[in-house]
Amino acid sequence: MIQKIKKINSVKGELVLPGDKSISHRAVMFSAMADGKSTVKNYLNSEDVKSTIDCFRKLGCKIEQTETDLTIEGKGFGGFTEPESHLDAGNSGTTTRLISGILVTQKFDTTIIGDASLSKRPMKRVVDPLLKMGARIETNEAGTLPLSIFASDEMKSIEFDMQIASAQIKSAVLLAGLHQEKETVVIEHARTRNHTETLLGLKVEEFAGYRKIYSSKKNYPKPSEYIVPSDISTSAFFIVLALNLDNSELLLKDVLLNDTRNGIIKILQQMGGRIEIENARESSGEKLGDLRIFSSRLHNIDIDSKIIPNIIDEIPILSVAGLFAEGKFVIRNAEELRFKESDRIDAMCLNFKKLGVNCAEYKDGFEIDGSVTNEDIQIESYHDHRISMAFAILGMLVGKGMSINDFESVSVSNPNFLNQIEVISIN
Ligand code: S3P
Repeated sequence: MIQKIKKINSVKGELVLPGDKSISHRAVMFSAMADGKSTVKNYLNSEDVKSTIDCFRKLGCKIEQTETDLTIEGKGFGGFTEPESHLDAGNSGTTTRLISGILVTQKFDTTIIGDASLSKRPMKRVVDPLLKMGARIETNEAGTLPLSIFASDEMKSIEFDMQIASAQIKSAVLLAGLHQEKETVVIEHARTRNHTETLLGLKVEEFAGYRKIYSSKKNYPKPSEYIVPSDISTSAFFIVLALNLDNSELLLKDVLLNDTRNGIIKILQQMGGRIEIENARESSGEKLGDLRIFSSRLHNIDIDSKIIPNIIDEIPILSVAGLFAEGKFVIRNAEELRFKESDRIDAMCLNFKKLGVNCAEYKDGFEIDGSVTNEDIQIESYHDHRISMAFAILGMLVGKGMSINDFESVSVSNPNFLNQIEVISIN
């Protein structure tokens, strides 16, 4: 579907955005594993989370669903049943990589498939440590889907020194570790999102420059009530829109403010963005609060490589903020962007160039300056939700007759994106 984007003059009002994607996936998985009934309130009802829900239904779980809440009858340790067909993870890397850590420990064989984008993404990064744990798991020759998983009698705990900054790899190993008596240890050098360890209450030890995270059978999830805060990655699109429009003030309620996810707010504040945190509090071990955002004049800053894993999903929309900010926007040390739902370095650069923006592409990032000079451009979204939404916000800021192809991709993380924009727009 090609979506035409209209210019917006200002935004006013408040929104409660849908639940965080990373936490929603995990809440479904941990509820499905636990022995008994769990509830997940304010889960993200989007394509990606539906993929996780469908996988666990195929593994024998009863999951009741309303627009906002889930009730899940968990199967307990060793309780999943062999699916009648392959599991389809759709577009979701989180579903694939995390669930593979659970499936390698089961007494039956499974196959995971996905859509065209997911089928190009690297899976050896989770397969290799799981093989070290004694798993029987195979990719195709290219190291991609389908993933074939066979029952193994030789699973054991390991100490895994993780070289890629990835919460998905970390989580896959820790979830496999939940099935062993002896502790599995993941050594993490760069700080990645910590929802797996927070929600499961895992032991974490901090050292200078690295941390150790432990999991074993004693951490196996129990039935719980999960309350999911609003997704900070989804909020980022609305924050950048409000900051860059005149006469605007926006309140985003109940937003996740976890320290491993709030880098986007810190960076936009350092760039001169007026973002105020109100009503800061904690729920289910996660920090959250309301964000009040005001029209601001932004300037570009040096972005420290250490913060990259914290803002990895927000870089497309951050670069849109950077385009409107004074000075050149530069992002480096972000090669992981090449392995997301699309090659996001390539996708951002191709589209910036189409719009007439000066753009230099690097192996690990890009830099942009100048402004949008070309009219009536059709953006190539690569069917990537974050590319679609980042350029939609750019189009709302500049107008110029922009349109975006495959715009239905937004339903991967926020099916109601355009309705939410409509609620706050003033023209
Ligand atoms: C996620 C981890 C990140 C992130 C993805 C969600 C998670 O991926 O980009 O959108 O929920 O664990 P990596 O672990 O590949 O960095």
